[in-house]
Formats: sequence, structure tokens, C-alpha cells
Amino acid sequence: MSELDAAWAALNAAADRARVRRIASLFDAEPGRLARLTLEAAGLTLDLSKQPWSLPDLAELLDLARAAGVEAARARLLAGEIVNRSEQRPALHVALRAPAGAGLKAAGVEVSSEVDATRAAMKRFADGVRSDTIRGATGKPFRAIVHIGIGGSDLGPRLIWEALKPLEPRIDLRFVANVDPAELAQALAGLDPAETLVVVVSKTFTTLETLANAEIARAWLRAALGEAGADGHLAAVSAAPDRAQAFGVAPDRVFAFWDWVGGRYSLWSAVGLSCATALGFAAFERMLAGAHAMDVHFAEAPLERNAPVLLALAHVFNRNGLGRPMRAVVPYAQRLRLFAPFLQQLEMESNGKRVDAQGRPLTRGTAASVFGDAGTNGQHAFFQLLHQGTDIIPVDIVAVREGSEGDPAMQRKLLANAIAQAEALLVGRGEAEVRAELTAKGLDPAEIDMLAPQRTFPGDRPSSFLLLDRLDPERLGALIALYEHKTFVEGVLWGINSFDQWGVELGKTLATRVLGELEGGPAGGHDPSTEALIGKLKV
Ligand code: F6P
Repeated sequence: MSELDAAWAALNAAADRARVRRIASLFDAEPGRLARLTLEAAGLTLDLSKQPWSLPDLAELLDLARAAGVEAARARLLAGEIVNRSEQRPALHVALRAPAGAGLKAAGVEVSSEVDATRAAMKRFADGVRSDTIRGATGKPFRAIVHIGIGGSDLGPRLIWEALKPLEPRIDLRFVANVDPAELAQALAGLDPAETLVVVVSKTFTTLETLANAEIARAWLRAALGEAGADGHLAAVSAAPDRAQAFGVAPDRVFAFWDWVGGRYSLWSAVGLSCATALGFAAFERMLAGAHAMDVHFAEAPLERNAPVLLALAHVFNRNGLGRPMRAVVPYAQRLRLFAPFLQQLEMESNGKRVDAQGRPLTRGTAASVFGDAGTNGQHAFFQLLHQGTDIIPVDIVAVREGSEGDPAMQRKLLANAIAQAEALLVGRGEAEVRAELTAKGLDPAEIDMLAPQRTFPGDRPSSFLLLDRLDPERLGALIALYEHKTFVEGVLWGINSFDQWGVELGKTLATRVLGELEGGPAGGHDPSTEALIGKLKV
């Protein structure tokens, strides 16, 4: 048996032990548990003590990380080696948040100079717009930005803006992703084209949704400002700058990024231009600094104190050892309500794979399905299932000590709920206690037999608890980088390439074909259900 197979067998044995004990019992059995399983990293505190592992189990999981080559893979990632083999690319998003002059290389080519130059160009643009030095065609200052992009060109910037936007923004930043015309119509509603900047963000500049939205937005600008006037209201961000220019964006308004930046890892690049402009470049730089601090932690902390590594191991223990194919993410911060959708792309597009990096079928499960919403809202929606459903779904809880705004007493109520939910998931409420309560209330025995099981909470449901002192740019950057690296480590443990996404291609190809048929082109060659739908909807 190879060292790796032996390590997976040890994980399964650890899971067998975990199945027959309660997590809560481990606090008595392991006096050092809380301290050992609480980590500080880049301004975040992570408590993994409510996970189902014992300390010896964790030691075995760390052996798995070593046997799977996590340390060597981390070194290759951070050195800019080609870790995305199916596309022959590095995945050097860490270079985007490294301090100026870092001298990092992607596939042996120095890239930090270009990163620094683009950052400087972004700053000039953001400062120019914010100081009204850069104005629209009619001389009016820009008061709104419409950011058009989808997937990685949307979810990160949307999350950042929601998390950090001022209560009364000077620049009204709106996002459009969907090819559903309703989203663009809503985004443009009430805006004055003379005061609006349209930023088209697409790594490939071939994405159907983004190009369709960009064309309509450009037409909207042109109708009000004329062709020449509209040009000054367009900017683009792309790893294919020539395509952006061919679309009609002036060369000095095209901001580049590179094929070594994966779409879902791109918010640190010029993809963040709209946010950097609407929030101010200083806030954007602070976010980069927070992410960089997490990069340093990931690179330097030993595996046993490494937050991304431990978070990944907790997930893999639940996913593979204990057979739990879902995870809920609940930030107790309304400003982080888009964290779950962001993680859905990060984790499910990165690690939703069924073959390994060599193309061989995998014998164990990979990424869990991720879902979630802000707490406390989620408590009134899906928490019933978390507490009493037939499946055990581990939960990542994120809480913020100081609220961004508003009444501190409400913030305490929010925090109380975060803590209480983690406790309820862990300890539950036993049937004997419920029966005693119902008996004390004078219910008859038949009624108690019916009610008690329904009012019992099994508990023993794992959670991770992540605490941020404040939701500031640094901590937001660190939080996102933590999950990026966690996702990478999971990919290494599973032996997959986390940086490609071939699974999104088939639907795109078929949509193009179906569109042709809906618009009257030659039809046929589909299954009967698809044929029938095309028949019903074609013009
Ligand atoms: O959904 C597939 C995908 O390729 C994502 O990986 C990417 O983030 C998104 O489409 C948008 O792509 P682009 O930035 O090239 O428009």
C-alpha cells in the first residue's frame, strides 16, 4: 500500500471512530482541544474545535496532507509553476496582491512589473474619476458605474462592493451579469448616460452574456451621447485586450490581466477596477494587503497551524471520511450575504471534478455542494434542515465582532445568534430533556410520545467558526484568500486540477446551437424533450 493510500485508510479509520462518539465529548477528553484547534491568521480567528475530529485524528489528516504532497504543491503554486496542466498555465493570483516590486515569475517569466504597471494605471483611472478629472463626454463628472461581467468577472467584485460600500456612495456601482435582459434594464434604470461609466469585464472577451449586455449598454450610451461621445464612457478589463479594443474601447481604457489569473481568482486584478474606483484605490490596496497577509501565512505557517490547510482537512474529513456531500456557509453579517454565491463558484467550479489531473477516474468524492445565506436570515429558511434533517451538513459560520454601522445592541443580538446556532448544532437537545419539559407542562403520555421526537435536536452537527474583528478591506481580503487557498489544498488532496473548468463548455456550445434554431435556423438532432421545448419557444 502506498503512503498515500495508507493515509486515506487512516482517514477512514478516524471517521469510523468519529461516528461512534460525540464531538462535544472531545472537549472533556482533550483538555488542550480548544487552544489546539483555534488559530489566528492574518487578522482572522478560526475555531475548528466543533469539527468531528479528535486531536490524534487531526495528526493523521496532517499525514494525509503530507503524503498528498501539499507542501510541494504549495511551493509550485507560489513559484508560478504550471499547476493548471490541462491549460498549460500557472495560477499565480498571489502575484496580484504581492507588494510592489515582488519580482514574481509565472512559468519562469517575470510578471510583477506588469502587475505593478496595471495597478498604477488603475489608480490613475480611479483617482481621476473620483476627483472628477476624468469626466464624461458632456463634461459632467461620473456618478455611476455599470460593471458588466459574469462568473469570476462578477461574483468577486459584487461581494467586495456589498461588503465595503459606504452608506451613501458617491459613485453608484451597479452590476449586470445575466443575459436576462431584465438585469441590464434594472441596472440602467434611472441612470443618466452622461454621468455613467460602463466597465466591461471579461477575461476572454468572448462570453455570450457579457458581450450581449455590453452591446446593449453601448447602444444606450450612443443613443444619448453619439458614437464618439459614448467611447469616453467605456472601459474594459480583459486578458484579451485586442478583443476589447476591437469592441470599440479606447486602448488607454483597456486594463489587462493575464491568462495565469483564473477567472474566479481574478478579483485582485483589474477585474476589481469598478470597486477600486467606487471605493477609492486606498481601500482596494488595503484589501490586497489583507490577502497578501493570508498568502504569507499560507506559505509560511507549518501545516498544523495553517488555517487554509486545516479548513481544507476539516472539509475533506466530513466529505470523504463521513460522507457529507454538502456544506452550508452562513456569514452573520448582511454585508457578506454574497459570500456563499462567491464560494459556490470558487469551490464548485474549481473542485467539481470527477477525474484527476491525469484524467483518471476518481474513486472518492470531490467538492461538496455549497449553499448559504446571511445569518440570521438563513435561520428562518434552511436551518430547520441543518438541525433536524436526515443529512448532516457541516456549517461554516463567519461572524464580525464590530458591526460596520448601526446599533451596537443589534450587533450583539446578531453575534448571540451566531454563537447560539453553533452551540445548538453541537449539543442539540436530548429527548429525555424534552420529555421532562412536556411532562412538567402536563401533557398526556400519548401526546408526549408524538411530540418529543419532533422537538428533539440530535446535535453533534459540525461547524467551523470564523471571527473577524471588523469587516474592513484587510480582513475581507484575508477571508477570501483563506478560502482560495483552502480550495487549492482540497484539490491537491483529491489529486485534481482546481484551475480549469471544462464542465462549463458543453452547455455554452449547445446554447449557441439552440439559439440558432430558436431564431429560425435548421432544427433537429435533439432528444424529444429538447425538440419540444425548441418547438414551443422558437420565433
Ligand atoms: O462559467 C465559466 C467561466 O469561464 C468562468 O470560469 C468565468 O469566470 C466566467 O465564465 C466568465 O468568463 P469571462 O471572464 O471570460 O467572461
